[in-house]
Amino acid sequence: MKRIICSLILSVCALVLSAGPVCIIPQPAEVVVGQGCFHLNASTVYVVDFDDPKVEYALEFFNGVAEDLFGTGLSCEKSARRNAIRISKDETIAEEGYVLEVDSKMIGISASSPSGVYYAFQSLRQMVPAEALGGYKVVDVDIQCALIKDEPKMKYRGFLMDVGRHFFDVDEIKTLIDVAAMHKMNIFHWHLTEDQGWRIDIRKYPLLAKVGSVRAKSQVVGTHHVHGIGYDGVPYGPFFYTQDQIRDVVKYAEKNFVTVIPEVDMPGHSLSALAAYPHLGCVGKDYKVREKWGIADEVMCIGKETTFEFAEDVMEEILELFPSKYIHIGGDECPRTAWKTCPHCQARMKAEGFETEAQLQTYFNHRMEALLKKHGRVMIGWDEVLEGGVSPSTIVMSWRGTEGGIAAANAGNDVIMTPHQFCYVNGRQSSNLAKEPPLGTRHPSRPHHRPLDKVYMYDPFDGVPESQHKHIIGLQVCLWTEHVKIMPHALYMTLPRLSALAETGWSLAPKDFDRYLVSLENLCKYYKFYEYPYSRSYWRDNGLDF
Ligand code: ACM
Ligand code: ZN
Repeated sequence: MKRIICSLILSVCALVLSAGPVCIIPQPAEVVVGQGCFHLNASTVYVVDFDDPKVEYALEFFNGVAEDLFGTGLSCEKSARRNAIRISKDETIAEEGYVLEVDSKMIGISASSPSGVYYAFQSLRQMVPAEALGGYKVVDVDIQCALIKDEPKMKYRGFLMDVGRHFFDVDEIKTLIDVAAMHKMNIFHWHLTEDQGWRIDIRKYPLLAKVGSVRAKSQVVGTHHVHGIGYDGVPYGPFFYTQDQIRDVVKYAEKNFVTVIPEVDMPGHSLSALAAYPHLGCVGKDYKVREKWGIADEVMCIGKETTFEFAEDVMEEILELFPSKYIHIGGDECPRTAWKTCPHCQARMKAEGFETEAQLQTYFNHRMEALLKKHGRVMIGWDEVLEGGVSPSTIVMSWRGTEGGIAAANAGNDVIMTPHQFCYVNGRQSSNLAKEPPLGTRHPSRPHHRPLDKVYMYDPFDGVPESQHKHIIGLQVCLWTEHVKIMPHALYMTLPRLSALAETGWSLAPKDFDRYLVSLENLCKYYKFYEYPYSRSYWRDNGLDF
């Protein structure tokens, strides 16, 4: 609707929109503002001197922007002396980095990789005055002359989406990938399985989708066990992705230089799998897909060899679908109570000489890791995988705080930081509860208040000895969806905090919250154009007029 109104207004007269300031999030490493402007218009052409088919993805992306401006994409020419975007290869530029040079005649983009070209175009989009988007009758868009040199600080910049608690369809997932890519995030961590729902079709185990993706009712959003849980009484599901849909998402992500990392959470958080195939549990019967949030005691049996057959079969199909080097096996929040009384688990402990049930989980992790290694992949696990010992090649995702990540880095493991205090964007962003969506997040052990400025100031290297900084390979924003049922709410929780963490993960420039806030006000205009709901809590809570 907004686009229609915009185009109606703008169709009255053809417009020339003048350049805005250079406000880009994440802040580029170096920006030198020049004199004058480049006039981008429908006759601007690409001149590509970069022999790699993936450069086409970057052009496709910017053609989407051109279509929003002029109603048409830009074409390619072999050469041009003016009014061109010249793309060339420069091996001296870091992986994913770029140089973007705007002068009055030409825009030059240099990079060593197609992803660098893509990120240059992402930056260029933020130099297009947001008011021009959706105009369709704009003839000239002024882009401020500038020289920008940029490259990422961290190689892993992730965004996790939990589709287990609530399901988000393929189009919604693609929108989340667009949002991640807009902020130069390069990983989409797809949390595909949960106690409350198994969301991916596995050919060899059809009941995972048929039975495991449906729950009889759901805990009401905003209720918490401390205050009393309510249920909605409404069946939820079947909701799952077919393998063709998964392939479609993986391809879409690749075109936006985002790698999809699948997570199959085992041996805990797997009640939906037990409901479909009860032999996977210690008791072997009477499981149902979980209807409330929290942690289930019913977990996979580590004693039975059939559990490993299942895990290996599932992984084989996962590896076929997801080409990512990293594969996440979960490993978090796995109660060991069922293992204590299970004859199979106890027999395994005796046979392996284990003294504690924790070693059963380590045993499971090691077998999964060996399987992944055999296929040339690398295992990621939540920081619980540290308990009982972890092999040096496992990547540890530190979520319960930073302690796990620091310990892992000290032990020589690579680490992705996602401490919930800063990186879990399902936590409320305002001190004003009355004005926030109901989040059910008043558990005394988790204050869950993560305002924008606190999130922005998070430093993933904090507390990590300098000698181990090399092991902190990245950070991740996580959106858990127990209390997030629909897409507008998902975006509202994510934005703008994702932009703060994206800047932390990408930017080599020193942190500056005031500068970031100015750029964010510009970025919010793009959020508005793309109809991404975002939270204004920070401005409201601080009495700022925005
Ligand atoms: C987690 O939040 N349980 C990884
Ligand atoms: Zn067992």
